[in-house]
Amino acid sequence: MKKKFVFIFTAIMLCLAFALSACGETRGDNNKDDDTPTDTLTFERDEAGEGYIVTGDKGEAANIVIPAAHESLPVVGIADSAFAYSKHTSDILSVVIPDSVVEIGKNAFHNQDALVSVKIGTDSQLQKIGNNAFSGNSSLQSIYLPAGFSELGDDVFNNCGGLNSITVAAGNTHYSGAGNCLIDLTTHTLLRGSNQSVIPEAVTKIGVAAFRRATMTTLTIPTSVTFIDKYAISDSAITKVVYKGTSTEWENVVAASSPYWNMGNENVEIVCSDAKDPSHILVAYFSCTNHTEGIAEKIAAVTGGTLYEIVPQEPYTAADLDYGTDCRANREQSNPSSRPQIEGSISDMGTFDVVFLGYPIWWGEAPKIIYTFLESYDFSGKTIIPFCTSGSSPIGSSATNLHSLAEGATWLEGARFSSGASQNAVGEWVDSLGLAAK
Ligand SMILES: Cc1cc2nc3c(=O)[nH]c(=O)nc-3n(C[C@H](O)[C@H](O)[C@H](O)COP(=O)(O)O)c2cc1C
Repeated sequence: MKKKFVFIFTAIMLCLAFALSACGETRGDNNKDDDTPTDTLTFERDEAGEGYIVTGDKGEAANIVIPAAHESLPVVGIADSAFAYSKHTSDILSVVIPDSVVEIGKNAFHNQDALVSVKIGTDSQLQKIGNNAFSGNSSLQSIYLPAGFSELGDDVFNNCGGLNSITVAAGNTHYSGAGNCLIDLTTHTLLRGSNQSVIPEAVTKIGVAAFRRATMTTLTIPTSVTFIDKYAISDSAITKVVYKGTSTEWENVVAASSPYWNMGNENVEIVCSDAKDPSHILVAYFSCTNHTEGIAEKIAAVTGGTLYEIVPQEPYTAADLDYGTDCRANREQSNPSSRPQIEGSISDMGTFDVVFLGYPIWWGEAPKIIYTFLESYDFSGKTIIPFCTSGSSPIGSSATNLHSLAEGATWLEGARFSSGASQNAVGEWVDSLGLAAK
């Protein structure tokens, strides 16, 4: 009688094991014929006595296939540190986790840095992964969490810089894999990013070490993010952060964030939505007594543009500028064909598409050397922004009278500054131009 009962019980359990291992389509193809269970695994009964927990592999296999059942009971867990490198000291390359596993213990695969593939099926019963379970798995390519998964420990995927794909089953109410990011839906925190991450607008926080050791070079952060936790981009290849908000908004994010968010990557370039690429801005000016030069320097400081002084071949002496007399400057201004020659030239004019053009007002007009300058280059397609200094005269028609000399250009309205104009005043004017970020 007893023998018969044992036989029936064993048969039922074998059928159950078969069903567990064969049911449904699995994302990781867990049930393929070549997923023959590793026969050197060690087990212990779980606390509830309803199944087994795999505790390690005495065979130190490189490719681990955990069976769905052991001795006719389901394998429901992976013990703490079961396959951690400190215990399984040869490299593990792949692991197949059966659908029956509900919990992966702390440090289960800690520091297995050659581990490329962890297969978890779409019918997986996995609910919980303990702290640091996969931390240090720098070769891991992808992660998948099933619909019923609900409890992710701390630093589970810390230093998993090789991740290219993060997927969470659609029905999961605790976590999301939107944008190839692992997101806690309760706190809207991005817990772990991948090298293909496109951070969704719903994310408000970037968690501890979220992109640590990532291999991508640019990280784009949406304006919904208000806090970045420590080590978020540490030890990564990220050299550029593109922030979708303005530089002022970014300053607020940084002020609210951990001071260690970019520890080790402090030189990361931050590009905000209002950033301008200074390499395409030229600040050209003519100045005899340095008033216009002072304004040009302030424009260059705020735009990062390249300063260029229009230097006359024949310098203007004080007598040349003594405009109460029949001086050289006066004679040039009253001669429509006067074109004073310029010393040198700009060889890379083609690289600039915004030209600030500064001059002193001479008898209500731009000095004739500005005419020479405009006739020396092709300005078509460029934007020209005139500015001037004067004793008191406004910029007036001095600027509009230049338009015909560079007809292919877009001329913006110019501005007149006193020689003592502040950096703030100049900066506000530049901001008001609304030059498009490039
Ligand atoms: C020949 C000449 C004509 C000038 N004409 C005017 C003028 O019409 N209106 C005015 O307000 N200032 C006039 N000024 C003064 C200059 O515009 C002013 O000092 C300017 O800031 C000088 O700039 P810079 O130091 O860059 O050369 C004139 C100066 C010179 C030398």
